Amino acid sequence: MVGRRALGAYVVLEVGDEAVAAAPGQFYMLAAVVGWGGGEGERPFLGRAISALFAGDGRVGFLLEDVGPGTGRLCSLAVGEELWLVGPLGRGFDAPPAEREALLVGGGVGIPPLAMFQEAWGGRALLGFRDARHAAGASLLKDAELATDDGSVGHAGYVTDLLERELRAAGEVCVYACGPPAMLETVRALTLAAGVPAWLALEAPMACGFGACFGCVVATHDGFKRVCLDGPVFEAAVLA
Ligand SMILES: Cc1cc2nc3c(=O)[nH]c(=O)nc-3n(C[C@H](O)[C@H](O)[C@H](O)COP(=O)(O)OP(=O)(O)OC[C@H]3O[C@@H](n4cnc5c(N)ncnc54)[C@H](O)[C@@H]3O)c2cc1C
Ligand code: FES
Repeated sequence: MVGRRALGAYVVLEVGDEAVAAAPGQFYMLAAVVGWGGGEGERPFLGRAISALFAGDGRVGFLLEDVGPGTGRLCSLAVGEELWLVGPLGRGFDAPPAEREALLVGGGVGIPPLAMFQEAWGGRALLGFRDARHAAGASLLKDAELATDDGSVGHAGYVTDLLERELRAAGEVCVYACGPPAMLETVRALTLAAGVPAWLALEAPMACGFGACFGCVVATHDGFKRVCLDGPVFEAAVLA
């Protein structure tokens, strides 16, 4: 690992990687080489799925929040410690249509795909966080409008309140979203009701990350699909 910095409630890791550049929404499976479970009477942890924050020129970046043993260990890594990296994996976002404005709607650790999207293709960001400490993550995007659950920064409430306002304004938009399941479900319902095209980068518990275990399936109108292989990005209209 070649870089580490704290960003509010998050940690940004930078890793040397010779792989091809990742698309916005693609992810990697990450594991620490040392201290990755496997102590006495203990199994090693599985790799953890983490979205690319940036990738290219021999470097890939990640934004992490410590929510359990795997992300806790990854957040504790120091520069010079080694990581196993598998990726880039999955299908990311496609470039937006020229005739519509891209609205990027995200929350928490869902912002890396949106930061990569904005860097590649632009777009106006609406971001939601728990509180001011988490809202520090918004600095990874340009000119984001913010909402916080506790009202400490920006709109007091959900980021989907901001999306609802935008959808009422009746501009020609399309929506690209990544965040917690409840937020994505609201984005799906609002955009479907408004007849606005939307693509969602989903999260699901993942064991393998490349299509072998079927542990990550999601229901679509075309049957069950693997989030790691057929996604994580799905058009909102195909989700059942
Ligand atoms: C495609 C994809 C991209 C992701 N990108 C990022 C990222 O950029 N940064 C980041 O910090 N996290 C990201 N995650 C979530 C991350 O993979 C999980 O938080 C992590 O696996 C938790 O492992 P743990 O051992 O720390 O905690 P665990 O003890 O395994 O879990 C802690 C908590 O998180 C929940 N959880 C575990 N795995 C997932 C999951 N895959 N999705 C949703 N909830 C889960 C558990 O139910 C529990 O509440 C992503 C997940 C996916 C599928
Ligand atoms: S995580 Fe194994 S099939 Fe998706």
